[in-house]
Amino acid sequence: MTNFEYYAPTKVVFGKGTEEQVGELVCGQKCNKVLVHYGSGSVKKSGLLDRIFQSLEEEGVSYISLGGVVPNPRLSLVYEGIRLCKKEQVDFILAVGGGSVIDSAKAIGYGVANEGDVWDFYERKRAAQGCLPIGVVLTIAAAGSEMSNSSVITNENGWLKRGYGNDCCRAKFAIMDPELTMTLPKYQTASGCVDIMMHTMERYFNQEENLELTDGFSEHLIRTVMDNAKILMKEPDNYKARAEVMWAGSLSHNGLTGCGTAGGDWASHQLEHELGGMFDVAHGAGLAAVWGSWARYVLDARPDRFARFAVRVMGQTKGKDEIETALRGIEAMEEFYRSIEMPVSLSDMEIHPDEKQLHSLAEKCSHFGKRTIGCIKKLEQEDMYQIYKNAL
Ligand code: NZQ
Ligand code: ZN
Repeated sequence: MTNFEYYAPTKVVFGKGTEEQVGELVCGQKCNKVLVHYGSGSVKKSGLLDRIFQSLEEEGVSYISLGGVVPNPRLSLVYEGIRLCKKEQVDFILAVGGGSVIDSAKAIGYGVANEGDVWDFYERKRAAQGCLPIGVVLTIAAAGSEMSNSSVITNENGWLKRGYGNDCCRAKFAIMDPELTMTLPKYQTASGCVDIMMHTMERYFNQEENLELTDGFSEHLIRTVMDNAKILMKEPDNYKARAEVMWAGSLSHNGLTGCGTAGGDWASHQLEHELGGMFDVAHGAGLAAVWGSWARYVLDARPDRFARFAVRVMGQTKGKDEIETALRGIEAMEEFYRSIEMPVSLSDMEIHPDEKQLHSLAEKCSHFGKRTIGCIKKLEQEDMYQIYKNAL
């Protein structure tokens, strides 16, 4: 087991009606002015935003609001939020939404707490020294940003999607009411489930020896999400299934499933981020579309690990050797993705990049030749190109 640090400081308030506690929780943060940050309309339509404003008012919390965050959140709105927060002397941000809203809130928080251009952090030019405190009311189980140290932003200038991780942005509290996720379109529910599974799988496919507890935990988490995703495709109002998936979402990305590893692979995520930047696809769907291609490309580096996954997670019987077992597991996972109407190729998403675009995706993903990705097998720009091509 590799040495590790586990840091999960976010207070979780989970269950039916917990959003009613938002005023009280914000009040406990002893702030003077709050920015309520939200997306493109779902929280208005559902009435959640009004209920949040009411709860803040009941506690005498002073607030302003900024909506308009889109999936694959944009840097231009982050800049607008930073200007607004500075002008209004905001000292706490309440993100009401999913990963995109939370990530935008974190970026605004960095921009207010640090001098200079916030994009520098996402470009890895320097490290943030602080972040405004963030609180979350989660409306979609997917990205895990409510407990993660990460934020992913898209710069419209070049359509570059970049992530930045720093513990100082971790949310002070996260309110998670599974009922709030019942209004999600089927596609977003499915896409979220894929993302949750992938946060665990990225950590599971590593170069470690077997880890009894962490592996067992991860395997069960993935199976739990698969079982409940299938239920939710038929019964979107099933509270128990919504709750299982929501809690899995946070645990899949708060570091728990990486304890004892050097950090995981993350190549599928890096490959998907460029698809999100260039084609604006839903993150989880993009992951499903590239995963099979990635898995087949790297499996010879750890056939034992892929074979274990096939048996323990996907319930496959052993083949004549580890490679055959591993391939059965990959096929079974693709079959599962299809069963929840997720893509298993780029053309399933109606994306047909030409040769020039494939090279551009690989170039961007390699940060213009400056980085490799993945730990199970280190991938160069040419490998990235090949994985995109195999995913067509
Ligand atoms: O904007 P609104 O109108 O709210 O609509 C959203 C959006 O269209 C809708 N939605 C959310 N809650 C809803 C709802 N619709 C109806 N009812 C509800 N209760 O769902 C759509 C997707 O929302 P988004 O926030 O984009 O989803 P998600 O949580 O999947 O976040 C995706 C973003 O997070 C990043 C992704 O790259 C992507 O940009 N990630 C962030 C991570 C992190 N910070 O730790 C890790 C992840 O790996 C991921 O990269
Ligand atoms: Zn993800």
